[in-house]
Amino acid sequence: MNAPIDVTDRSIYSRSIGIEHDPSQGPRVHRDHLGREVAPDLLALMGDTPLVALDKLSRDVPPTIVAKLEMLNPGGSVKDRIGIAMVEAAEAAGELRPGGTIVEPTSGNTGVGLAIAAARKGYRCIFVVPDKVSQDKISLMRAYGAEVVVCPTAVDPKDPRSYYEVSDRLAEQPGAFKPNQYFNQANPQTHIMSTGPELWRQTGGNIDAFVCGVGTGGTATGVGRYLKERNPDLKVIGADPEGSLYSADDVHPYLVEGIGEDFWPPTFDPDIVDVWERVSDQESFAMARRCTREEGILIGGSGGTALVGALRYAATQPEDASIVVLLPDSGRGYLTKLYDDTWMTEHGFVEHTSGAGSVGDVMASKGGDLPPVVHLHPDEEVSAAIGLLKEYGVSQMPVFAGGVHDDASPDDVLGSVRESALLDVALRDPAAMTKPIAEVLQPPLPMVSTDDALDRALAELSSGAPALLAHDTGRIVGVLTRADVLAYLADR
Ligand SMILES: Cc1ncc(COP(=O)(O)O)c(C=O)c1O
Repeated sequence: MNAPIDVTDRSIYSRSIGIEHDPSQGPRVHRDHLGREVAPDLLALMGDTPLVALDKLSRDVPPTIVAKLEMLNPGGSVKDRIGIAMVEAAEAAGELRPGGTIVEPTSGNTGVGLAIAAARKGYRCIFVVPDKVSQDKISLMRAYGAEVVVCPTAVDPKDPRSYYEVSDRLAEQPGAFKPNQYFNQANPQTHIMSTGPELWRQTGGNIDAFVCGVGTGGTATGVGRYLKERNPDLKVIGADPEGSLYSADDVHPYLVEGIGEDFWPPTFDPDIVDVWERVSDQESFAMARRCTREEGILIGGSGGTALVGALRYAATQPEDASIVVLLPDSGRGYLTKLYDDTWMTEHGFVEHTSGAGSVGDVMASKGGDLPPVVHLHPDEEVSAAIGLLKEYGVSQMPVFAGGVHDDASPDDVLGSVRESALLDVALRDPAAMTKPIAEVLQPPLPMVSTDDALDRALAELSSGAPALLAHDTGRIVGVLTRADVLAYLADR
C-alpha cells in the first residue's frame, strides 16, 4: 500500500488539465491517511477521458472509428478542461483575485466548466449566452449558482445587444475577469498539455487522423499541434456546420450548438485543419440520434457533426487507418431539442418520419365534417371572411376566382386571407369591414401535391408558411397545417 499522504497537498496529484500536466506521472487518486482512494476535489478528475470503438456506426466504412468520450468529464463536456485552466492561468497572472467575478460569453459548456472551478474556488459567475442555447443548458448553469444573461442571436457581433458586446460591458465592472475562450491562449494550450498527450498515450502513437468540430478552435488547434509534432503525417479533419465561415463563404444561421463561427477567433489556427467536412443540421441531428440508439452513447448535436465528418473521411481510408473522433458533450443538454420528435418535426428534420408517407396520407387522416375546401371569393366582404374563419376555427383560407366551387384547380387560386393580416387592417381602418376581400388579399398559400412526400410539406411549413394548399392531379383538395401533420404523426 502507498504511504499515507496529505490529500490537501495538490502538488502530489497528476492533473489532466492545466499547463503543468504530465500524464505519465500516474493516477489522479491516491490513498489518503485512512487508506481510501480519493481525489482532492472534482477539478482533479477532469480530463483523461476514455476511448471507445464505434463498431456499429463504422460498419459501412473500412476502418473502425474510435471516439474520445468528452462527455465523461465531471461537468459533462470537453470544456471542463479549459474552465479550470483559464481560471488558474488568470490567478497566476493576478487577473483574478479572491472575491472576483468571472464573466464569459458561452454557449453553455464552457460556463459549466468555469462554474465548477468557481464553485470550488469561491468566485461569482455571470454567463452571457445567445438565445438559441437550450433552456436545459441555461438551467444547468444556474444550478451551479451562476447568473445567466440571454442575448439575441440575429444581431451583428458588434451590435450593443450581441452576446460579445454585453459580456464586454459586464467585464468592465471592478473585480471582473473575462476568461474569453475565443482569445485566451490557455484554451488551445490546455489541449496541447492534456487532450493531445492523452490521445498519443491512449493510441500508443498509432493515430492517423483526428476529427472534431471547431468552435473556438481550441480543441482542434491544441490537439492538432501536439499530435502533428509527434506525427507530421497526421491529418486533422474539421467537421463544420453548413452556415459557418470556417469551411465556406455561405454564412447563415444554423441550429447545431457550440461549433462553427461567423468570425476567425485568435484561438484557432486554420492551418491546422487539413480537410473540412461541411455538415447540415439535418445530418448532424440524425447522426447524433443514430449514435445514441446504435452505440448507446448519448451525444449532443455537435458530436453528430463530428461523426458525419469522421464517417465521410473514413470512407476514403484503408481498413488499418487509425481515426479518432472527439465527442464533445452529452445529449442530456438537448432532450427538448434534437431528441424531441415534435421539435424535430417543427424544424423540418423529419428523419423519424422517413417512410411516413405523403401529403395525401395526412389529408386522408383528417376526416371530419369540413367540406373539401373552405374558401372565399374576392368580392366577399372582410366581415364575411372573419365570420367564415371563426365558423371553421381556422387562421387562414384560400381565395378562389369567383364562380368556382368544389372543383377549383391551382389556376383558380388568387391568394389567401390570413387572420393576422385582417386584424391589422381592422385595427387601422374601422371601415375595412365592408371592403371586398380583393383589397386585403395576401399571397397564395404554397401548393403541394398529395403525391409529395411529407418531408417536402414539412420543409415548406418550417420555412414560415402558415399552411399549405394540397392538390390531387390538378384539383384542390384541402388545406394542410402544422397541426394536421403533428396529429397525423402522433396517431401513426
Ligand atoms: C458542444 C460543443 N462542441 C464543440 C465545441 C468546440 O470546441 P472548441 O471551442 O475547442 O473548438 C464546443 C465549444 O463550445 C461545444 O460547446
